[in-house]
Amino acid sequence: MTQDELKALVGQAALQYVTPGEIVGVGTGSTVNKFIEALATLKDRVPGAVSSSEASTARLKAIGIPVLEANAVETIGVYIDGADEIDGQGHMIKGGGAALTREKIVAAQSRRFVCIADESKLVATLGAFPLPVEVIPMATARVIRQFAALGGQARVRLKDGVPLVTDNGQHIVDVTGLKISDPLGFESEVNQWPGVVTVGVFAHQKASVCLLGTAEGVRTLS
Ligand code: 5RP
Repeated sequence: MTQDELKALVGQAALQYVTPGEIVGVGTGSTVNKFIEALATLKDRVPGAVSSSEASTARLKAIGIPVLEANAVETIGVYIDGADEIDGQGHMIKGGGAALTREKIVAAQSRRFVCIADESKLVATLGAFPLPVEVIPMATARVIRQFAALGGQARVRLKDGVPLVTDNGQHIVDVTGLKISDPLGFESEVNQWPGVVTVGVFAHQKASVCLLGTAEGVRTLS
């Protein structure tokens, strides 16, 4: 199976976690796009969604699912999202699509986080994928130096030759060279650096369940 087919497989499998009549939280990325396509078949039973990005919002609206503001909803039953890396405990690196801040907000509001990913995303230790960190622009140079002190090489993510601007009007730095053996401690530390909006380690908001697309079918990690 191709990677695209594996993504479609887990996107479809995630439907079993959607409770008819309940608001669903929707992440961002190519795997989630497959989930949104599958969700179209249930749209009459989904009263609305809270979305983690402008891109997913547009796709949800296109299939006729109302998109609600996070502030208008108290608790979301399930949040479905992809990952750039996930370990066997459900800790993830996210933010390859630059939507990490809103993703963490919607995840924090949800009772259950169902991660959907193809098997290439499963790792023993987080850190091979460049870690995305959303940063207030005036702090990027100092945050880059702080990562250098930890042994990481950080650079500002560019789009069309200029710094990418997130849905929240901030920049992203991507950090390579890190081995994140204590995801909870690492997330807590980097989160309190001045100017950091969100670090792309999801350990406090880890996945409750991971649906992994493999050549043999969907493998469920929980
Ligand atoms: C976006 C994300 C995505 O979930 C992550 O990048 C995985 O994307 P894809 O499903 O396209 O591989 O965190 O900010």
